[in-house]
Amino acid sequence: MAALHMNISCLIFLQVLLLLLSLFAQTNAQGLKVGFYDNTCPKAEGIVKKSVLDAIKKDRTIGAPLLRMFFHDCFVRGCEGSVLLELKNKKDEKNAPPNLSLRGFEIIDNVKAAVEKECPGVVSCSDVLALLARDAVVALNGPSWGVETGRRDGRVTNINEARANLPSPFDNITSLITQFRSKGLDKKDLVVLSGGHTVGNGHCPLITNRLYNFTGKGDSDPNLDTEYAANLRGRCKPTDTTTALEMDPGSFKTFDKSYFKLVSQRRGFFQSDAALLDNQETKSYVLKQTKSYGSTFFKDFGVSMVKMGRIGVLTGRAGEVRKKCRMVN
Ligand code: HEM
Ligand SMILES: *[C@@H]1O[C@H](CO)[C@@H](O)[C@H](O)[C@H]1NC(C)=O
Ligand SMILES: *[C@@H]1O[C@H](CO)[C@@H](O)[C@H](O)[C@H]1NC(C)=O
Ligand SMILES: *[C@@H]1O[C@H](CO)[C@@H](O)[C@H](O)[C@H]1NC(C)=O
Repeated sequence: MAALHMNISCLIFLQVLLLLLSLFAQTNAQGLKVGFYDNTCPKAEGIVKKSVLDAIKKDRTIGAPLLRMFFHDCFVRGCEGSVLLELKNKKDEKNAPPNLSLRGFEIIDNVKAAVEKECPGVVSCSDVLALLARDAVVALNGPSWGVETGRRDGRVTNINEARANLPSPFDNITSLITQFRSKGLDKKDLVVLSGGHTVGNGHCPLITNRLYNFTGKGDSDPNLDTEYAANLRGRCKPTDTTTALEMDPGSFKTFDKSYFKLVSQRRGFFQSDAALLDNQETKSYVLKQTKSYGSTFFKDFGVSMVKMGRIGVLTGRAGEVRKKCRMVN
């Protein structure tokens, strides 16, 4: 009898200990944790995943913009859903010049509506973006990771903040490193997250300077492989402002490791991609990922995405849980 009592109290003690451990271990300093909605909306993650799979089944090119959307959200005011807000006067982030081809807003609306139907007012738009980004990468055959949730939505969007906070495809390595550092991300995060360009498209006007008259002598960017430059000139005439090209030719709908091989061959699409060869640390990462054994990109990508997902988050009682992602409550 005594032994039985001992066992039961031991068990209870262990359970309490485990509960406490899981509470402390999973919640990071900012109050985000994997599985934040496990009790309040247990079906949320499944609903998002299914919606993404359905959307990507219909149109596989929608995956890349969903990933990019999370990056744009996090770099401007933090990951708090401001990229989705619309102002009547159009002075919102969506209307800032770096928005070229930002798309997928209807999918986000649909996912949010489905989640609202399941549990009204519980799951934030910023968390929907974080989950969508992961599920899009998975659907494109990329890695998976545990997405921290618990973000709340902001109430402000501003066209000038998007201009000021988003890196430009014309930026050099010094400038890229500085901009990432200002968001709490290091050189490794920069090179790892740039690997997101293994999927999706870029538009001609962002590379015409590399193809024509780079230094004013009718030349092309010396950091661009000459054969690839000729190929791109064939598809981007100097005045073309509308054509979109695959950034990872041949596998732009698959999240794979080929981005790093391309960059190492001086076939990075933007100057900002090519720039990764101009710093010792980012360069050595690029070269390491080109080896089929020893590539750590898939694992690293999840780690850096989680880190990016912590930028400037609102948690606890800050902000709100928007009912509709395009407008504040
Ligand atoms: C390092 C700084 C970065 C710069 C300068 C940059 C710049 C750009 C630009 C200019 C485009 C093409 C827009 C267009 O012409 O339509 C683009 C596309 C894209 N970017 Fe980035 N980006 C950066 C980092 C990231 C990060 C961190 C991610 C995500 C992890 C990301 C994911 C994407 C994706 C998926 C696309 C393709 C979008 C589509 O197909 O519509 N980028 N990026
Ligand atoms: C991007 O900005 C332009 C004008 O600056 C606007 O016409 C366009 O609708 C915006 N794109 C998105 C997806 O909101
Ligand atoms: C990099 O870009 C910054 C900002 O545009 C500029 O001030 C700096 O001189 C550039 N650095 C190099 C090495 O070109
Ligand atoms: C190339 O750039 C130089 C200097 O900006 C300019 O004088 C020249 O007209 C340009 N050539 C072409 C073909 O655009």
